[in-house]
Amino acid sequence: MSSNLTQSRPRAVVIMAAGLGTRMRSSLIKVMHPVAGRPLVDFPVRAALAVGAQRVVVVLGHQRERVEAHLRAAFPAAPVAFATQAEQLGTAHAVLCAMPQLEGFEGDIVVLSGDVPNLSAESLEALIALPGAVRVLGMRLEEPAQYGRFVREAGKLVRIREFKDCAPEERAIRDVNAGVYAIDAGFLRDTLGRLGRDNAQGEYYLTDLVERAAQAGLGVSTLTVEGDAALDLNGVNDRAELAAAEARMQARLRRSFMRAGVTFVDPARSWLHADVEIGEDTVIEPDVALLGATRVGRECYIEQGTRLSNTEVADRVTLHAYTVAESSHIGVECTVGPFARLREGTRFGRGVKIGNFVETKQAVFGDGAKASHLSYLGDAEIGPRANIGAGTITCNYDGVHKHRTRVGAGAFIGSDSQLVAPVSIGDGAYVGAGTTVTHDVPAGALALTRSPTKVVEGWVERKRLAREAEAKHKTPGDTRGGR
Ligand code: UD1
Ligand code: CA
Repeated sequence: MSSNLTQSRPRAVVIMAAGLGTRMRSSLIKVMHPVAGRPLVDFPVRAALAVGAQRVVVVLGHQRERVEAHLRAAFPAAPVAFATQAEQLGTAHAVLCAMPQLEGFEGDIVVLSGDVPNLSAESLEALIALPGAVRVLGMRLEEPAQYGRFVREAGKLVRIREFKDCAPEERAIRDVNAGVYAIDAGFLRDTLGRLGRDNAQGEYYLTDLVERAAQAGLGVSTLTVEGDAALDLNGVNDRAELAAAEARMQARLRRSFMRAGVTFVDPARSWLHADVEIGEDTVIEPDVALLGATRVGRECYIEQGTRLSNTEVADRVTLHAYTVAESSHIGVECTVGPFARLREGTRFGRGVKIGNFVETKQAVFGDGAKASHLSYLGDAEIGPRANIGAGTITCNYDGVHKHRTRVGAGAFIGSDSQLVAPVSIGDGAYVGAGTTVTHDVPAGALALTRSPTKVVEGWVERKRLAREAEAKHKTPGDTRGGR
């Protein structure tokens, strides 16, 4: 990352995430609630890594094991450490709990909250670049709510007053604390343990560092974001703010894809997860969800209602309406749907055609294979150019075990056939319509299990005459016998 080359001082990041987040009204800790498919706490970790943090210390309390296990799995190679704050005595106390993990560190310690997912690495860079022992990110808001107020004297920030401690005239201040700081490590170490808790909430306030630095003449600076951009600094405290953060994130993801050459027919009606990739000249119709680690190639066309999770889509693929796929691979120039369901382990080669009401699972299709209508193909290998007729079913499960079905290259499976696995159909073989295949079929053979068709000439007419004769012998008023 280029920021590593240009940065002057080493950086460490502390992420405060010990609070439960009572206003979420949830048994799940706030920072584990997802935005764009990732827990809230992932976003500050990503921002920290993006600005080249040497070390990231996440302060945990409530549901510590759960969050730690998640972060270890999500960032296996990153320099992420954990600190415990057993009792939430305030933001200064949270950072204090992280300090043993930062022993000997000199440089800037950046403090973030676990619940501000839309903070960008660019804003963080700009903040760190400011001079002074304490640098604070602020927002200018029309409705400053309960955020801490920036109290300035002669234009300089001299203290941050928490809403609950504010005099009425201070409550009118519209420049407020976003809760994001860059602090000189030496100053932080010297001062943190000396802050008191003589305030409305009886908590150790990290914001008191500002007054200490100002009094000591150590330099305090602020970066105040206004207008629409300030909304990126909003924290998540309840479900409504969670939805607002999600909407911001979605808008940002869409914007970056549109800049990169992706068309969204109705941008607001799509749902993207944070790790999705989409290639140039791909068109996305409304109500499409691209989830998890889904990657879509170039020049694809994705119709309405399609939902892909952890699915790879190669170039020039058409997904017709309401295609649902998970953990699948769709090769170049495939056509799928409408109403197709590709379950885990589906892999299509080039130019495969899958039509409506086809379900696949652990199914590998060779180039140009087709299943155009109404099929279940599970635990199957379908050879290149094989044609699977309407209503074909692989009977892969005997009630105890799953078995595999192999269909050779260019084989033709007639409509309404059952392939009772384990079974193998040789290259170029034919299976007649309505066949139940229970034995392997050699290459080039025809398999047919069909009772002969019986044709009875003139049957309909004879039947009609018999009915009429019967009706004449009935007594009037007797309606038994119908029509
Ligand atoms: C804090 C700021 C306030 C600012 C606001 C921005 C202080 C005293 N106030 O207030 O000026 O406008 O953030 O959102 O810092 N946390 C812990 N341990 C604790 C307390 C908090 O880990 O003991 C974590 C929380 O889980 C949360 C973050 O720190 O992720 C912020 O805490 P919160 O209680 O939301 O602070 P605010 O009262 O909103
Ligand atoms: Ca908060």
